[in-house]
Amino acid sequence: MVAFIRMEYVLECNIMITRRGLLHFAAGTAVLSATELERRIGQKDFRGLTREELPTPCMILDQDLFEKNLKTMAQHNKASGLSLRAHVKIHKSTEISRRQLELGATGVCCATIAECELMASAGVKGILFTCQPSGKQKIMRVVQLAKKEPTFHCVTDDVIIAGQLDEAAGAAGAKLNVCVDVFAGLTRQGCQPGAKALELAQKVASSKNLRLAGLMAYSGDASHTKIFTERKKRSAADLAGMLETAEMCKKSGLPVAIKTGGSTGTYNIDSGSLTEIQAGSYIFMDTAYLKIGGQSSDKVYDDFKEALTVMTTVVSKTRPGVCSIDAGNKAMLRTTDSVKDRPEVQVQNQGAEYGLLVWKDGDRDYRVGDRVEIYPTNLDTSTNVYDRYYVARGEKIVDAWPIMGRAGAAHR
Ligand SMILES: Cc1ncc(COP(=O)(O)O)c(C=O)c1O
Repeated sequence: MVAFIRMEYVLECNIMITRRGLLHFAAGTAVLSATELERRIGQKDFRGLTREELPTPCMILDQDLFEKNLKTMAQHNKASGLSLRAHVKIHKSTEISRRQLELGATGVCCATIAECELMASAGVKGILFTCQPSGKQKIMRVVQLAKKEPTFHCVTDDVIIAGQLDEAAGAAGAKLNVCVDVFAGLTRQGCQPGAKALELAQKVASSKNLRLAGLMAYSGDASHTKIFTERKKRSAADLAGMLETAEMCKKSGLPVAIKTGGSTGTYNIDSGSLTEIQAGSYIFMDTAYLKIGGQSSDKVYDDFKEALTVMTTVVSKTRPGVCSIDAGNKAMLRTTDSVKDRPEVQVQNQGAEYGLLVWKDGDRDYRVGDRVEIYPTNLDTSTNVYDRYYVARGEKIVDAWPIMGRAGAAHR
């Protein structure tokens, strides 16, 4: 709304703000009003649109780097035989899922039932809901989705929930694909591997309205373990229980077609243990992943490139070595974020609508009105507060993709 008023004001007064920070009153200024920008986006008319014209803060996706990331993962999947069930929670965009599927992904993972419903409504097949459905409302939505979309899967780590899913699926006339969620180092989820997990798998397999699809083991702590060899060890340790359970299932005659888990951090580690990888962040990358170290360097993990930035504007610059920007807590700014092309600049939170950029050295100063791009640390929560990705090639904006799966309430 703030951006809307400001843009309208710019149009009415015919003010142009030049790169030198001067205001120019000019007839027929080229600055777009917010209404006109929305109209152009609605009509996919991006002629002449550049980063400079966008209201800030906003998300900018570098198309070339993004496509390179998609291809790197797709090529790896082809070469390793490890399928990709890409996690949607990172991007929440049907446009992006469609591209991942076109490049060979077997499906997508979703963290909320709302994300699952959105993806299904866009025609996405092979959805896996990676959070166990609990409570009548979610269970009802899960079985309704299974009825509409037979390739939909969910997970369970609880024998009582398995019973409730079976009952609800029966009542809805649905057959529900279920993966047993086995503990893989993350306290938040997963039943104990071995006998307990086998018992649950048997319960699912013997339920009239459920189909045992396989096992899930999400080793979320392995994903960000620093140094490749350490990460490899951590992932192997975290997945051992799931592999033991898979063996036990096999011996009991239970099918384990899917062994799903893993992440951007372990995509080139888990091919011996998993049949599919649930990587999500690789499409944009975040500042945390860059520091975990890769196969060829303990310092940098650069298999995938940083393709997503939050573009902000400098709103005040009154003292040396510090300026404020129009992205603060509401824009999910974090002190671990980093500034594009200015590694020496620190990001600090100031308030709801303000952030601070602070630097000691460096030969470049910021001026009021400058655009500054920031790499986010946590993609899931950052993408959750923006309406769309502005897709850029260099300075030009070539498309805009709505972030349709962002939540109005925490989980919806
Ligand atoms: C269950 C599950 N699988 C996969 C992922 C994707 O991991 P990443 O974004 O690190 O690739 C996540 C991310 O939090 C997750 O929660």
